[in-house]
Amino acid sequence: SHTVARDADGVVTVGGATVTALAAEFGTPAYVLDEADFRARARAWRQAFGAGADVYYAGKAFLSKAVVRWLHEEGLSLDVCSPGELAVALAGGMPPARIALHGNNKSAAELEQAVKAGVGHIVVDSAQEIDRLAAIAAGQGVRQPVLIRVTVGVEAHTHEFIATAHEDQKFGFSLAQGAAAQAVAQVLGHHEALELRGLHSHIGSQIFDTAGFEVAARRVVGLLAEIRDEHGVELPEIDLGGGLGIAYTSEDDPREPAEIATALAEIVRRECAAQRLRAPRLSVEPGRAIVGPTAFTLYQVGTVKPLAGLRTYVSVDGGMSDNIRTALYDAAYSVALVSRRSQAEPMLVRVVGKHCESGDIVVKDAFLPGDLTPGDLIAVPATGAYCRSMASNYNHALRPPVLAVADGAARVIVRRETEEDLLRLDVG
Ligand code: LLP
Repeated sequence: SHTVARDADGVVTVGGATVTALAAEFGTPAYVLDEADFRARARAWRQAFGAGADVYYAGKAFLSKAVVRWLHEEGLSLDVCSPGELAVALAGGMPPARIALHGNNKSAAELEQAVKAGVGHIVVDSAQEIDRLAAIAAGQGVRQPVLIRVTVGVEAHTHEFIATAHEDQKFGFSLAQGAAAQAVAQVLGHHEALELRGLHSHIGSQIFDTAGFEVAARRVVGLLAEIRDEHGVELPEIDLGGGLGIAYTSEDDPREPAEIATALAEIVRRECAAQRLRAPRLSVEPGRAIVGPTAFTLYQVGTVKPLAGLRTYVSVDGGMSDNIRTALYDAAYSVALVSRRSQAEPMLVRVVGKHCESGDIVVKDAFLPGDLTPGDLIAVPATGAYCRSMASNYNHALRPPVLAVADGAARVIVRRETEEDLLRLDVG
């Protein structure tokens, strides 16, 4: 559904806007987000899961007030994991009842704020948090709906830093060690203040195979059956988290939302039938799979430095401050010349930023036309997720704007930082 094309001069257009016009008007680097594509992907998730399920967009991938409005209009809900994300969700107009709050170390103040706002559910992650939250809910005279985050023991095939369901990590309550069952008893013990709605599992991120999700679903349903046997309650909801991978390069072959929806619905139906359980309401939390492919980063080439026998280093006007994923996860990206056509022979390049370290790599290995010159615009696709949201001010870089393009027009939805923005915080 991405509306990217080249015009007669070879200039790339997105959503009807040319990249040369975008660069001239808004400067570079800039994240360029295709609103129609975002909405289409959000809608595809809603349709794949249907009315019997909820789709919580994971705000950590990228969140802004405009995004919140689009999600609301497309019928999605929202997963937030910090007070900052909660503030943007509320400012963007998401109904509190459709917000879920995550986090492995939510402070009393954060919990207080979320309960007061009336968030739909809070996903509890530790024994201390359960007591903390119960006291806060009781204090406010409300009964707070919660899910319990369960660590199901799945080894997801993804980068170590973004896998979350193996035993030895910080999230959730271990199923294998019996901590999940203890958390259930603890929450049920706070019956007045906490309403146990169900269980939650998130196995990791950038995953291509449905097998891990299926194992997680089976284990979560198994725990539902144990809870029924032990406590006589059938919990009405399960949330199987996010994590579906996207294509960063042509090597990646991602699953469609419909494939994951069908696989999950089938496994939950089958396991529930086997356990004689009423099928719970299902929810999922895709972040990357919705926003990742909808944006690219537009950079201007500043220098082109050939290293004989090795490769050519192409320096752009951004770098690890607007995309840390290459340095942090060894992530692979592609790149294209977008401001003109070129028939020149391709050359092996490494696209690097302007920061003061050699790990400042945006695209590790790629080919660009051999006649690349300073002033050319290049684009790195699939930077919609975890690039702006993980951007930093390293070297006092100014974080780039996010431009939303739709129907030939571009609109700033997050503006470029200025030196005044930086100096405003420096009060010394
Ligand atoms: N739900 C929970 C509880 C999560 O922790 C996450 C992501 C998601 C949903 C959304 O996962 P997604 O569908 O976007 O894969 N910074 C890393 C990714 C970290 C993901 C953290 N949790 C990266 O750039 O690859």
